[in-house]
Amino acid sequence: MNRRDFLKKTIKAFFAVITAFVLSSIVYIYPPKIRKRELQYIYIMDEDELPRRGVRRVEFDVKLQDRVFDSRAFIAVNDYGLTAFSPVCTHLGCLVNWDSFRNEFICPCHGGRFDINGNVAGGPPPKPLIRLPLQIKDGKVYVGIKV
Ligand code: FES
Repeated sequence: MNRRDFLKKTIKAFFAVITAFVLSSIVYIYPPKIRKRELQYIYIMDEDELPRRGVRRVEFDVKLQDRVFDSRAFIAVNDYGLTAFSPVCTHLGCLVNWDSFRNEFICPCHGGRFDINGNVAGGPPPKPLIRLPLQIKDGKVYVGIKV
């Protein structure tokens, strides 16, 4: 091996080590964005507690690795039957509330409004509320959350 070949191999090895270091740093710093999210079904209530009409807010814990997070969803009886909605506004991510007098989901941040089917009724949200998978099994109701 002459001097030129040795220098080429040293430079290649140096850049390989730098690339490996940068990639592993990105994975370490941004793991949730790279990690594939799994759908987890979480018990929210017994079947006989489901609303017959209107909207009901449910709160539950989501376990992610060693930590527990408070979460919530809305269960609505609407044109599609029984539907679970994420409370996250599709504009900038604030949490919506159900206003039973106006019969709409209202976002407190910029006045976004959604009807009982989750469709945009007014304000800046660009898309309907996100529907969550709902599962009824052995008299228990579960909502699907990606964690
Ligand atoms: S975040 Fe809901 S309207 Fe802006």
